[in-house]
Order: sequence, then C-alpha cells, then structure tokens
Amino acid sequence: MKSTGSNFTSENFYTMNTKLLLLLLVICSPFLSFGLTKQYCLTLRDDPATTMVIGWGGDNGTVHYGTTDEGTNYTAYPNSHPSDRTGNAHGHTRHFSRLTGLTPNTIYYFVIRDDNGVVTDRFKFKTLSDDPNVPLSYITGGDSRDGFKVLGIYVEDCPSGNCLDERREGNELVAKIRPDFVAFNGDFVMNQITSNTTNEWDDWFDDWQLSISQDGRMYPMVHTQGNHEDNQDVYNLFDIPQEEYYALSLHGGLLRLYTLNSELNACTEANQLNWLLNDLQLHSSGGSTDPVWKFAQYHIPTYGMANDYGLVPEQMTCWVNLFEQFDVRMVSESHGHCTKWSHPCVANSSESDFEVDTENGIVYIGEGQWGAPHRELDFAGANQKPYIRDQDVFDNFFYIQVKQDSTIIRCVKFENISNVVASTSDELGKDLPTGITIWSPSNGDRVILTNESVGLSEQDTEMNPTSVYPIPAENIVNVAFDKHDEGTIEVYDALGKLCVIENYSGTSKSVDLTPVCSGVSYMYIKSENGSVQVHKIVKR
Ligand SMILES: [Fe+2]
Repeated sequence: MKSTGSNFTSENFYTMNTKLLLLLLVICSPFLSFGLTKQYCLTLRDDPATTMVIGWGGDNGTVHYGTTDEGTNYTAYPNSHPSDRTGNAHGHTRHFSRLTGLTPNTIYYFVIRDDNGVVTDRFKFKTLSDDPNVPLSYITGGDSRDGFKVLGIYVEDCPSGNCLDERREGNELVAKIRPDFVAFNGDFVMNQITSNTTNEWDDWFDDWQLSISQDGRMYPMVHTQGNHEDNQDVYNLFDIPQEEYYALSLHGGLLRLYTLNSELNACTEANQLNWLLNDLQLHSSGGSTDPVWKFAQYHIPTYGMANDYGLVPEQMTCWVNLFEQFDVRMVSESHGHCTKWSHPCVANSSESDFEVDTENGIVYIGEGQWGAPHRELDFAGANQKPYIRDQDVFDNFFYIQVKQDSTIIRCVKFENISNVVASTSDELGKDLPTGITIWSPSNGDRVILTNESVGLSEQDTEMNPTSVYPIPAENIVNVAFDKHDEGTIEVYDALGKLCVIENYSGTSKSVDLTPVCSGVSYMYIKSENGSVQVHKIVKR
C-alpha cells in the first residue's frame, strides 16, 4: 500500500514552491523598492549658467528635460540625458546626469524615467546668468548633523529636543526663499563609529526633499567637505569635482566662489595650495576678465569661536594671506556650531589672530548652525574678540545678495517658519520673502560690502560718501560728507566700549577724542537714512 506521502513527487514539490514564491512576491511587492528613483539633489560643478548635475538614489534612469513644462509626459520633452556616473558611499548608490549646453537664466523642467519605466514628479530648476549685471542671491551655511545620543537621549544641546527638526526647518526655509543656489560648508551627518551612517544619509537626503518648493523647483548646491565626511564622500554622493576643492565663476564674472577642503592641510597639501594660488593669480590680472567679487567657503574656521577650536595656524598663514593679497572679500566657515559675524578684518602682524581693518579686511561669517547641536561661545562678554561684530548661538544660515556695486550680508534665523510667505518668484538676485526672521545685532542687521568702501547699514539705502581725517589723529578727527547728512557718530575702543557719542548735521563734523579714547578705535557714522559706515581711527 502506497503511503499518501508518495504523491509528493519532486515535480509536485517544485510546483508548490514556485506557487509559494509567486504568492510571496505578490504579497511583498508593495514593499520592494527596486525600480524606483528617490532622494533628488542638484549640484553645481561647472559653469552654472550652462550646466547642471541632477543626482538621485535608487534605480538608474534617464533625465528628460526642456524649457516648456510638459508635466510628467516624458516623451514630450525635447531633450534626454542618461546617468553619466554612479557614485557609492555609506551604502548609498547615487546616479548623476550632467546636463550641458543649457541656456543661461532659464527655467528648465525635468522628469527622471527609471529603467523600469517609472516616471518621477515634474521638477524644475533655473540656470544662473552669464551677465555680471544680473544680481545673484544665495544661502550659505553648514553643519546639519544630528546630536549624539546615549540610550536614545541627546547628550548634546538641541533646543527643540531633536536636532533634525531644526535642520528640517532650514530646508523648509530654502523652499520658501527660493535662492539661486546654496553653498553648504560641510558636516552633513555624524558618520561616527557609534552611529548608523547609512541611515543618517537616508535621513539627510529625505530631509533635503523639504527644500523643494511646492511648484517642484529645486535649488543646486555647492558642496564642501567637512570633518564628518570621509575622503571622496562628497564626490560620490553629490558629484562635486573629485579633488573636493574647486572654484566656480558665477554670472559671467560677477563672483568667483572658492570652495576649499579644510581636511587637507592648508600649507603642506601642495596641490590644493598651488591650485588656489594659481587660480587667484589668474583671476587678479587687472584685466576685464577679473571677477567683481571673490568669496571663499570651507568647513573648519581659521579662528573658531567655540569648542576651544581657536586658531588653525596653517590656514592663517597659507590661506588668509592669499585671500588678503588677492582681494577675497568674504569667507563662509562652519564647524563651530555657533554664530559669528566679523567686522572686515585681517591677520595681525604675528598671524596669531585677526584685527579689524575696515579698508582692506575680509568679513568672516559662520560657524555652522544648520541644525547641529549648539555649543557655548569661548570668547563672551568682555572677552569677545574685537573683530567680531556680533556672535550668538542659534540655528541659522546667511543670505548673500551680490551685485556689481555691493554685496549685502544678512543672517536668517530658523524661527517662525510658518509666518514666512513663500516666494513664488524665479527672478535671480531677489530679496528675502516677507515674514522672514533676520538676526538684528545692535550694530545693524546687515553688512554691505562695496567696491570702494565697507559699511554697515540697517536699511538698503545709498551711502553718503565720507572722508575721515587725519589718521592717525592727535585729538580731533574730522568727518566730511559729500552732501548734507544728519545722524549720530559713535566711537568705540578696541574692546567695544563706547567712548564718544555726538550728533551731527551738515557736511562736516569734528569729533574730540580727548576724553577717553586711546589707541585704535572704531567710528560708526549712523545716518538718519539708516546707513551705517565704520572707519578705523588711531589716536597718537
Ligand atoms: Fe565640523
């Protein structure tokens, strides 16, 4: 008598397993993500007027794009471009489609169709201009990593109770501000032995999707390597140039933006230093091809204001000297997890620190508070560095508006995001939207750099050109205005103590320094029209 088990022939067994496998595939298919693209980012690595890198995770695919909005009908777009390169880091595979030959100052619409035929939402971006007369506005900031946790509890200061909440607020602000691009100074995620870096990058890319505006507009980034990124991470995750130091010319020479890698020793890593020197020389020939402005960004501050970071002597010796020699006017730094905003300043004679120089100095902003845990300032109260116009600890990034004749620097707080009226403008160089919260130090909520002089202004007003003489002075300093003006003159000593305050009205004013001021001091000429100018004065 045959047992019933004899019906289980190997053929039946195979058929049953196949049916089970098919059943499992049907049940699980909603959870299988292959065949999908995700986590979209834009990168600037070449001429921002004519090129754009579109990056994404997940499946490979092809970008379909054009200057007319065809929605998700990918066949209607006149251009298509496959992935040029794949990068891998920390368990993430990124695809990069490098678009070239684009028209400057133009909106492009695009979709990505993956290899299984799935088409993304319709996105859009705007190329930058090739005309230096067209203004430019961008966001710069850094340090978006999470705080350290022990048993799930933060041991670093994240005011809302979750550092990622603050990072997300910053990303939501990007979507509302609609900057021309974002210059990010590094330290995206923690990337520590104690953390899951694959998940951290997953969160970072997911959170960056919050920076996409409601109409699908995305904003390209100029990325910097921080100390929490491994060598080649930024190249592999965003497709920046492989050396991870580079410069971009924006708006046909309006601005040359230097991105340096502070993980490379500023003096002994000869490749980077020689490249920087050669590029600065090439763009400082005195000819018509020189950029109007030169700015720099890197991660670790040359003189940090928190966490006992202090001075990086190599950067002071090998970078700052070049910046000063070749007329770099503004530097954006991160890493400190605090907020600093310097007066125009230069290296002192011993290169041990900075000192104010309103004529030739560089404005340093930073230091990386895009959500990262807060730290305490090292030089507070009477110990505040005299070249720091103000400092504090709060989440923010800086907003920079660049024009031929002036650059306006402001600091945007990650506050009251819901009150910000989202911009709908695609105009290049536009102002901040209504409802934004600007940091307003007592010496003004903005710094205006001009080609001839440096001044501070509380409003976007014309400066009344002034001359201050003699420098150095015995006791009396004279101020001459080009045209009638009224306001207040305040003189502060090198430690920030108010020495003199006097009203003025007319085309000239004499200020007596006899009572208190000595040595180096700073004269703030505050006009009733809202402008503020700063002059360094020296009393014999
Ligand atoms: Fe850092």
